[in-house]
Amino acid sequence: MGFAVGVVVLLVGLVVSVAAVVIGAVIALAFAFLWVRDLTTGTDLAHAPAVEPEHAVEPEHAAAAVDDVVEDTPPATERYPRAKFLELSTLGLGGVIGGLVTAPAIGFMVAPAFLKQGTKDHSIGPITDYPEGKFIVATWMSDATQGEVSRRTAFVRNNGQLNGQPSFTIISNHCAHLGCPVQPNGPLEEKDTKKFADVTLIPTISIAGFGCPCHGGQYDTEGNRTAGPPVRALDRYSFSIRNGNLFLGKPFSVSHVDGSGSGAKIHKWAYSFPGEHVNGIESWLYPVQPPH
Ligand code: FES
Repeated sequence: MGFAVGVVVLLVGLVVSVAAVVIGAVIALAFAFLWVRDLTTGTDLAHAPAVEPEHAVEPEHAAAAVDDVVEDTPPATERYPRAKFLELSTLGLGGVIGGLVTAPAIGFMVAPAFLKQGTKDHSIGPITDYPEGKFIVATWMSDATQGEVSRRTAFVRNNGQLNGQPSFTIISNHCAHLGCPVQPNGPLEEKDTKKFADVTLIPTISIAGFGCPCHGGQYDTEGNRTAGPPVRALDRYSFSIRNGNLFLGKPFSVSHVDGSGSGAKIHKWAYSFPGEHVNGIESWLYPVQPPH
């Protein structure tokens, strides 16, 4: 029963959280150990008797010695009880066969989600292409081998200097409700569009936040949700500056942002899928995610 409870907790943990997976695995392993110990304790499988050295018997006395043994030895108890042997061998064989059948299937199903994931830093041009205080709609291909289907979009604003370092706000266009492409609430200066390599930069004129065309989700210029069904603020990208170029790093999720611009306090969380709460009790209700 304990082993079964452990497996159930582990499986539920796959839907709920990593902590529950670990707790389920520990319970299952502990009760598996106790189960095996229970099966073997008190049997000769656990305490195999020491083998008595055979007494040398002269060939001519062998026949008489055998007769003596048959007459003197009381009926021995079973050294390996058949019921225990059958129980253990059935369990062991079942486990081996089950493992051989399920391990490759689970591996093929689950492993690809954990392999070759993640994003590489991507240059979106010189920082001089980002005038201070203005949002630029930047698009780029995350995987050039896949072509336009891999094109991604972010809203990039140069916040000026913070402690002597350039500060940027880089907001993802994935709606935090169901992932639709969020649009700037304001006109674009399409005539000033810049293109180089796989990057396109379109300046905005003056935007009043971002809006989602799918279900009306609204966000302010820091990406905070202001209306509609989204459950958190818009995701952001980390960034770095190398040789005067702005590089996008890993995306991360944001519950909300206090303040604005270079002085903003960003409440940062691990990257989560659209629609998922990143904090509070609701954040416990989402499946464990593979890295992405
Ligand atoms: S996907 Fe954006 S509001 Fe629903």
